[in-house]
Amino acid sequence: MTDARPDPPADPDWVRAAPADDPGPGPWIEYAVGPGDAVRLRGTDAPDRVVTTTRAKWEAFVLGVRAGEFDHFVEGTDMTDTDLTATGLTGDHPAPRLRPAAPGDHPAVVAAVRTWWTDRSPAEMRELSLLLPKLFLQFFARTSLVLEDGDGVRAFLVGFHPADHPDEAYIHFVGVDPALRGQGVGRELYETFFRDAAAAGRTRVRSVTSPTNTRSIAFHRALGFRLEEGDGVGPDGVPVHKDYDGPGLDRVCFLRTLTVTTD
Ligand SMILES: CC(C)(COP(=O)(O)OP(=O)(O)OC[C@H]1O[C@@H](n2cnc3c(N)ncnc32)[C@H](O)[C@@H]1OP(=O)(O)O)[C@@H](O)C(=O)NCCC(=O)NCCS
Repeated sequence: MTDARPDPPADPDWVRAAPADDPGPGPWIEYAVGPGDAVRLRGTDAPDRVVTTTRAKWEAFVLGVRAGEFDHFVEGTDMTDTDLTATGLTGDHPAPRLRPAAPGDHPAVVAAVRTWWTDRSPAEMRELSLLLPKLFLQFFARTSLVLEDGDGVRAFLVGFHPADHPDEAYIHFVGVDPALRGQGVGRELYETFFRDAAAAGRTRVRSVTSPTNTRSIAFHRALGFRLEEGDGVGPDGVPVHKDYDGPGLDRVCFLRTLTVTTD
């Protein structure tokens, strides 16, 4: 097998992950984007040790840092919030931040549904937004997620831990701003939901979609869901549960097992 990736430039444009006017002393993290999807990282104290990753993974990592997922590594050390802010990865920054949803997010989420489904007509998008009445963020905000930046809500996941099925979690609705699609944002939302559900003792996640929503089916497959056997067959041979949501409202049902990790 040959590696078709182009050689990286010998002298890439390194960007320092620190405020421009910060005198240091560092050491700082530096990154360089390209060629293609590659992102390279190094520390200024060891500039010859370069780690290469993908843009999607780097952005997912930055989201994780901003969400505080790595804070426990510096607990009990003398690294302060100010130090973390100096990396450019945390703090009051307009770049995307993943957080639990809040009831007050409901208007922004509805507005998003009415504009982000660009392959549908305005009337269809309005109809779609009726799947998200206020009750979802009134009663399930804590298990739902929002990604926001200086422009407001850029992605969301509405999900819950059903009282009637104590081993399960359910994802009801997800949306990513079209401008951010294909960059790992949907995966980050789902994987964060999986981690939270597993931590709450849930061992399986369910979701459903329409048989014609090929994008959603591909996305769920990529996220490790299997399609449950149904009583019908849809486009491309997908198993369908006929009249699942009422007469003529067939659905594809997804199921994913959660691996419980013990730290
Ligand atoms: C579906 C949606 C949430 C995906 O979000 P996203 O941020 O673009 O997805 P990601 O970039 O995180 O992709 C995650 C995985 O899904 C796959 N995927 C995403 N969209 C895909 C598509 N249209 N076709 C095929 N695969 C797709 C990606 O290849 C990726 O796989 P990988 O991580 O193994 O490489 C987004 O396209 C969206 O909001 N769509 C409109 C809303 C919608 O259809 N919701 C229904 C979902 S229930």
